[in-house]
Order: sequence, then structure tokens, then C-alpha cells
Amino acid sequence: MDSKTTGVPQRVRVELGERSYDIVIGSGLLSQAAEYLRPLKLGKRGVIITDTNVESRYADVLSKALSKDGISAEVLSVTPGEASKSLRQANRLFEKMPSLGLDRHSFLIALGGGVVGDVAGYVAACYLRGIALVQVPTSLLAQVDSSVGGKVGVNLPQGKNLVGAFHQPRLVLADTDTLATLPARELRSGFAEVIKHGAIRDAAFFEWLEREHRQVFALDAVAVTHVVRRCCEIKAEVVSADERESGLRAILNFGHTLGHAMEALSEYVGLLHGEAIAMGMCCGAQMSMKRAGLGEAEAKRLHDLIAAAGLPTKLGKTFKVSELLAAARLDKKARNGKLRFVLLKRLGEAIISDAVTDADLEEAVNVCR
Ligand SMILES: NC(=O)c1ccc[n+]([C@@H]2O[C@H](COP(=O)([O-])OP(=O)(O)OC[C@H]3O[C@@H](n4cnc5c(N)ncnc54)[C@H](O)[C@@H]3O)[C@@H](O)[C@H]2O)c1
Ligand SMILES: [Zn+2]
Repeated sequence: MDSKTTGVPQRVRVELGERSYDIVIGSGLLSQAAEYLRPLKLGKRGVIITDTNVESRYADVLSKALSKDGISAEVLSVTPGEASKSLRQANRLFEKMPSLGLDRHSFLIALGGGVVGDVAGYVAACYLRGIALVQVPTSLLAQVDSSVGGKVGVNLPQGKNLVGAFHQPRLVLADTDTLATLPARELRSGFAEVIKHGAIRDAAFFEWLEREHRQVFALDAVAVTHVVRRCCEIKAEVVSADERESGLRAILNFGHTLGHAMEALSEYVGLLHGEAIAMGMCCGAQMSMKRAGLGEAEAKRLHDLIAAAGLPTKLGKTFKVSELLAAARLDKKARNGKLRFVLLKRLGEAIISDAVTDADLEEAVNVCR
């Protein structure tokens, strides 16, 4: 870590030609929002979409900051939780938009965790065939992952993220101060995606996490900023190389095929996204040992870091193997009936494989129960 990770806000650029944008990471950014929005030359009318937990803490600070530049932004809230990532919620939001006097220069701010980012992003992608979107992520998961990269959408009862679009934000403003009010379980859930970024792309970062994860959970400002920045750099690099997931981008789905299956089977309540991904990565490590040459010691290091973060490593008996397999098949990463899995060759290097058989999958699930 270097001196650049302290004090002044950090900037990470997502290079996507005319859709390029900055991710700004730092303390106190919410109250300086107008300053960061100004260069984008958006209109004077915005809408802030948030959830009720985040609204009560941060919506006022943000609206006041925007009003300094004469921007008026109505606040629309959804109920907190994954169940709000639905067509029903999206529809409710769509129907409120026409009365807000928006035009094609108006913009939408997603203020909240990944649920708000995904559903509000979907509304921004579709309303008037697309209006500008600014992501203001307030959960660790949203700051390290979901606010970056332009995937937006909602779930169907049958599966996660089955309806959606690509809609890149114009700016991501990650105010690390907001993490102070995030419940501990949500912080751990977000850490699952942090571990994922190290495991698929950066062995040195993975080692750093093994040494320093306690600092992150203690919300040490330097450690948190380092984590958010490094994850955003990794995600920006992968998304810049493959915006629409025709290849490389799929590595970001490590742990997600089974994770999504578990989320759908638990009907989007009770199990947090990061918790499902943690268990999905443990199964992924098993399959990686069998089909991608991941060493046993490295698989153990992944397992141990997940456990040290207080995340689940065992699926328990809640899920039937047959149901998990069926739900995994419905996940959109199944191609021509073949399941494609992200596997680790080693810590820091992921591959996409269709070598995993039903029997391998079943075995991995059984080992992780
Ligand atoms: N689009 C993508 O590329 C992408 C990537 C990863 C994950 N996701 C999605 O992200 C979602 C999970 O996001 P999440 O974990 O942020 O969940 P979330 O949005 O439900 O937020 C977690 C909880 O924390 C609360 N919260 C958020 N910020 C807070 C704060 N600062 N203080 C107090 N409470 C706060 C929320 O109200 C909620 O109850 C999943 O739907 C997942 O599929 C999307
Ligand atoms: Zn995820």
C-alpha cells in the first residue's frame, strides 16, 4: 500500500471509449457530490432512488449537496432487501417517473447497496430509452463490485438477474464513511466479493487480505480505501477488456452459478448474496482441484479466508443436490445445456471451463455440506 491510498480521494478510471467514467473513492464524498457531478453537465433535475434504511441516513445529505448547484432531486425509496430487485418494484418506480418532470437530460442517482444499484440502474436503462445514471454505493459489496461495470437488472422467481441490461454509470461516488452504519453481517457479505477479486485476479492482493482482513472489518480508513480501490481497479480492467461478457468478464462470476442457485432456492430471503457466493466459492475450489489443477493448500487458504471473514463455508442440508443442479442449469451461464464454471488454476488466476460434469458438481456440493 502506498501514500496514495490515504487522505485525498482516489480515482479509478473505467476505460470504455465514449462510455468511460471515473470511480471516486474517499471520505466525505456525499456532501461534495455537486463538485463531482458538475463536469458531467447533467440537467438540473434528478431522481434519487434509495431504500428506506439508506434514505433515513444519507438522502438528506445528498439532496442538500446537490441543491448547492441548483439541482433538485426527488427521493424515491424501495423496501430494503433482495426481494425489492423485482419487476414489481421496477414497475412501481417507472410509474412514478412521469410526474417528476424529467426530460432526456435528467438523471437518476442510485444511493444504496447492490439491490438499489441494480433495480435503479435498470429503471435508468429503460426509462425514456435510457437516462444518465450515477451510482452512489453505500454498502461494501456495492463499493467493491456492483456499482461498477454497468450490469443492471432484476430477479425472477425462477432465477437471479434474469431480466436486465447493460447501462454504464456516468460516475461512481463511493463515500467510505457510509460503511460505518452498515450492519456487520452486510460488511462480511460484501467481503465475499473482495475475496473473489483476489482469488480470480491478484494473488498478492489475496495475501494482503489474509494478513489485513481484520483492519478492514475494524473499518480502518486506509485498509478500507485500499480494498475498495484495488477491487475497483480489478473490475475496471476486466470490464474494459470485455464489457459485454463475451469472454474474460465471465471470471467475475466465480462462485456465482451455485451462489445464484442458492439465492433463488431460498426465495431471496434469509441468505445474503455474499453468503451464497462464499459457499459457491468453496464448491468452486473443490471443482478447481479436480478440473483445473488448483493445489490443495491453495484451496485451503481460500476456505480459511472465507471462514476468517465469518462467512459460511458449508451449505448444510437446506438445499437438495437435485434442486441445486436444476437451479444452476437455469442460471444464464448454462450454454447449450452445458454448465460453464469459473475455476481457479491457482490463487490469482481463473479460467472458464466446461469440463465440469454433473458428477463433479454433485461431489463438490456433497463435500461442502
Ligand atoms: N450489478 C452487478 O454487477 C452486481 C455485482 C455484485 C452483486 N450484485 C447484486 O448486489 C446485490 C447485493 O448488494 P448488497 O449486498 O449491497 O445488498 P443490499 O443492497 O440489500 O444492501 C444490504 C443492506 O444494507 C443496507 N445498507 C446499505 N448501505 C447501508 C449503509 N451505509 N448503512 C446502513 N445500512 C445500509 C441496505 O438497506 C440493506 O438492508 C445482489 O442483488 C447482487 O446480485 C450486482
Ligand atoms: Zn456477486
